[in-house]
Order: sequence, then C-alpha cells, then structure tokens
Amino acid sequence: MSNVLLVGTHWGDEGKGKVVDVLSENAGGCVRFQGGHNAGHTLVINNVKTILHLIPSGILRDDVKSIIGNGVVISLEALEHEIKELMDNNISIENKLFISQSCHVILPTHVALDIAHEQSLGKSSIGTTGRGIGPTYEDKVARRGIRLIDFFNTDILRKKLEKSMKYHNFLLKEYYKSDTISVDSVLDKLTPIFDRIKKYVCDVVPLILDLNKDSNIIFEGAQGTMLDIDHGTYPYVTSSNTTLPGLITGTGIGVDKVDYSLGITKAYTTRVGHGPFPTELHDQLGLDIAKWGGEVGATTGRARRCGWLDLKILRQSVELNRIDGIALTKLDVLDNLEKIKICVDYGDIDYESFEVSDMEYLEIDGWMSSTVGITDYDKLPDNAKKYIKTIEEISKTRIVMISTGPSRDQIITLEDIFA
Ligand code: GDP
Ligand code: IMO
Ligand code: MG
Repeated sequence: MSNVLLVGTHWGDEGKGKVVDVLSENAGGCVRFQGGHNAGHTLVINNVKTILHLIPSGILRDDVKSIIGNGVVISLEALEHEIKELMDNNISIENKLFISQSCHVILPTHVALDIAHEQSLGKSSIGTTGRGIGPTYEDKVARRGIRLIDFFNTDILRKKLEKSMKYHNFLLKEYYKSDTISVDSVLDKLTPIFDRIKKYVCDVVPLILDLNKDSNIIFEGAQGTMLDIDHGTYPYVTSSNTTLPGLITGTGIGVDKVDYSLGITKAYTTRVGHGPFPTELHDQLGLDIAKWGGEVGATTGRARRCGWLDLKILRQSVELNRIDGIALTKLDVLDNLEKIKICVDYGDIDYESFEVSDMEYLEIDGWMSSTVGITDYDKLPDNAKKYIKTIEEISKTRIVMISTGPSRDQIITLEDIFA
C-alpha cells in the first residue's frame, strides 16, 4: 500500500489538519511522529470544529488507526484532556489510539523551565507555546528523560524522576529563582492519569508495519519546515525535526516506506511566535489578511503574523522534504485582493534585527471574486489559476490539491495521492 508524508512548508498552521482529514478517507492509519501538544490542527466537518493538539487528525474517522510515534513528546494531562473532549463529542477512541511506549513525557518541571527560560530571555524570547516542549527534548538528548515505558514500574520511575528533577529543581531555584516542584506531587498527579491511559501504550512499530500490509498510511507532520530544529530559522524554532527525517527517527519506519511527500502550503505566509519573517506585512493589509483568514493560534490563541507567500522558503522545503506535490490551502482568503505579491527571492537575514536584504517580489492581479467552496479546478477564476501556475513554475512542483475553505468538502483534488 501507499504512504504519504504531510509536511508544513513554512512556519506551521498551513492547514495540515484539514488535509489529513480529507486524505484519511482513503487511509487505514494516521501517525504523528514529532512535536507535542504545541500543535493545533483544526478540522471542520458539517460545521463542527475540532482542534487536535496531540492525537492524530485521523481520529475522527472510525476506520482509521491513530498512532503516536516515539518522536512525539507527551503531556499526560493534555492527552487525557483531549481523549475526554473527543469522547464527550461521541468520537470513539477504543481500539483506534496507539501510543509508543518510547515517547518522552513532559513533566510539570519541563513546563516551569520553559516558562522561566522564556521570561529570562526578555525581548529575545522565542515565543514558545509554554508547554514544556523544548526542555523535554533537551532531557531526551541529555539521556535523563522519562519515557512512558518508565511509568509501568513506579519504583524505577521514582528513582528516575528523583535524578532528573533534582537537576530541574536546581535550575528552577538557583538559576531562574522560581519555585521548585516535588517528586511526590508529580507522581501523585501523573501516575493516576497514566493508569487510565496505559491501555493505549504499546510498541507501535509492528502495528504500523502490519497495518501497512493492506492500508495506506498518513504521516502527519506538526509545525512546519522553518520551525525545524536543524533546518529552520534557528534559534526561533521548535525542538524537533519537523521535516522528512523526523518521520524516520520519530517512528522507526524506513525511508523506503515514504511513497509520496505532500507539502502543505498556505496561499500566503504566517508565523506565530518570534523570529524573522521576511515577507511579513506590518500594515493594515497584514491585519486584514489575518482577519479574513481567522489567523489566531489554535493552541495559544495568539494573533498570527501574516505576510506574502514566500517561495524561497517553499523551494527549500521542496528540497528538504523531497516534496512530490503541494496542497495549496486558504486560496479563498485572498479573494478580495486587487493585487497579490509573491516573494521569489531575497538575500541574507540579519538574525539581530530580522532585516532582510534584496527582497524580490512578483505582483499579479487578484481575481476579486469568491472561490469559497469551489471543488472543480475549471471553475476557478483565471487570475487564481495564474497565481497557482506561478507558484508551480517558481517552486518547480505541482499543486495537486487546492483548499477553498475550512470544511472537509471545500477542496479541489487534482491527483490521487495514494495511487
Ligand atoms: P495546521 O496546524 O496546519 O493544521 O493548521 P491550523 O488548524 O492551525 O490552522 C489552519 C486554519 O485555517 C484553521 O482554522 C482551519 O480551519 C482553516 N483552514 C484550513 N484550510 C482552509 C481553507 O482552505 N480556507 C479557509 N478559509 N480556512 C482554512
Ligand atoms: P502546528 O502543528 C505554529 C512555534 C511557537 C514558537 C516556536 C517554539 O499547529 O502547525 P515550542 O512551544 O514548540 O517550543 O515553540 O514554535 N510553534 C508553532 N507555530 N504552529 C505550530 O504547530 C507550532 N508549534 C510550535 O509559536 O514560535
Ligand atoms: Mg496549527
């Protein structure tokens, strides 16, 4: 069967959740491989909106297994909360959710460290989601992390927590001058939650391989290429590999199992949090696009910064992720514009001032008519087609899906991704 990687090509929030939901109609599995509940993936079905942070976006379909790979960091509180929200909305979880026992667990001290570190950075803060993502990955790499598998033996868990939390508490108290957190309080809080969710914890690799014998699988990226710890706008990034290599390390699945890489690209560019953003619009137009596109963070509720589509980044994303085709989302948000700019290139980014040299834009005429809900490519206005063709030519990549609204059915499909 066929497997598809779905990856955000810019700074996240490209509409990955919606596209995963559309494609999962033809899949048997949906796998998250990195990030944590810093993600916010929005699905709209029959006017009902669901925002998923940790659980793969395939969960809304009864015949799709939702799998969380070892590369994801887990907040037990967030996981239980999300499961409860889904169940309250009559979405079944049983026999549909599987979580790798190797996932690292976000502890309350990681959250405290994330927040304290951000505060200490002042004006040069990253603008993290404050959910403990960075400190948890730090501990993973430093080999003092706590994994789900550790929760099966409370004695061993206590010993491991004592070791790593001694370090966390030293930092909290001595370096950040903040409150410490006791091991007992963490055990009291997290072990009952683990007991309730442990039925979902297993070795997911055999499951993925077995499922793949007769089902297509979607690998759902979180964040976006420019937030990748190695290839993004460092240090203004998240702490995982959001790109194709993250799929390999974050699941244990071979690179030969990735049949198609689908880049998810928004028709304009947004960023939430701090850091350079070459095409950012600092004027009323930026605010208008934010309003038309509902650009409010699905995780933190922060306003997203908006700007023109950055094709320099798109070309880098195509290379890094070996992208075969692009799903262009939120085309409808540009419906009202007389002129639309596309950034084709620029020089260096100054990481102190965030200024960028030699910005090069193309300007094309807008289409000034509604594309909302169009499902047939031929019905798109000519200038919208011109916009699409320009993106294809400059990125040297085909646009295979076009999203024309937040709903599952507001989509133009030009290629069968799983074929
Ligand atoms: P993700 O993190 O990549 O899954 O994206 P988010 O869910 O954080 O943000 C995308 C937002 O755009 C959500 O509110 C979606 O409901 C919405 N959305 C997705 N596709 C479209 C589209 O084609 N048009 C419009 N207007 N909204 C869309
Ligand atoms: P989805 O999957 C947009 C950003 C944060 C911050 C930086 C580091 O919905 O596209 P972190 O808490 O990860 O240490 O924060 O990364 N960020 C996202 N921005 N969409 C996301 O996820 C994001 N996840 C993290 O705003 O700038
Ligand atoms: Mg999002």
